Amino acid sequence: MAEVVLTRTADEASALAAAHVAREIAARPRLVLGVATGSTPEGFYRHLARCLAAEGTDTSGVRAFALDEYVGLPADHPESYAAVIDRTVTMPLGLDPAHVHVPDGRAADPFAAAVAYDRAIDAAGGVDIQILGIGRNGHIGFNEPGSSLGSRTRVKTLAASTRDANARFFTDPRDVPVHCITQGIGTIREARHLILLAFGADKSTALAGAVEGPVSASLPGSAIQLHPHVTVLADEDAAQKLTQAEAYREAWALKPAAQSF
Ligand code: GLP
Repeated sequence: MAEVVLTRTADEASALAAAHVAREIAARPRLVLGVATGSTPEGFYRHLARCLAAEGTDTSGVRAFALDEYVGLPADHPESYAAVIDRTVTMPLGLDPAHVHVPDGRAADPFAAAVAYDRAIDAAGGVDIQILGIGRNGHIGFNEPGSSLGSRTRVKTLAASTRDANARFFTDPRDVPVHCITQGIGTIREARHLILLAFGADKSTALAGAVEGPVSASLPGSAIQLHPHVTVLADEDAAQKLTQAEAYREAWALKPAAQSF
């Protein structure tokens, strides 16, 4: 079972996760961090930047790999995940841009770019800690329902519901790309530690399915149940459909070293 940490607010969860990742970076200066986009991890990145700065941690050796990228957005588009990662991760954490990788959604051959991305992750020694959000339809990365639980990084078509959900980031909803490159579920499962963040009532069904539902390609987030080291952090609203919430709270409260995941 995944470790499930339930907090009152998203901010508390973000702060807990950030404190843990900051300690790991301090202990392993060349840590490989898997980073997600979307609204969910924004608070986590802010807390992480503060923790690292407060401790004066050198982040110049940290490597980062993004989960996914839209295909075909212009290079300077502010909503390309390359731009989002630059704004929310690379700059605030003080990472070396040369160490930060995002799938190349502008490659002439995005299919080859996807294969090259998996190779680059392998060449870096694999992802140590992967930060994940979850889509309302249960997607992780951009692995929409139906994605193989063993899939590798590849080009995918976005579900209409995901395009609708992400339209809020674009001036014109028609600008939301139809295709993306996403790490596969098999790729994500190779990360050594998964930290999944879920906040807000609109994630409650997806979160309950991911943590407690059957493992199924119909709910890609449920693949976390196949992983040996997963930490799920959720606020009250996202946790409202978990049937074992009391058990998770008790396990967390009685954990010998409650600071550590
Ligand atoms: C996005 C991203 C995912 C993210 C998810 C949830 O489209 N590709 O990596 O986790 O959907 O997004 P949000 O955190 O904004 O709800």
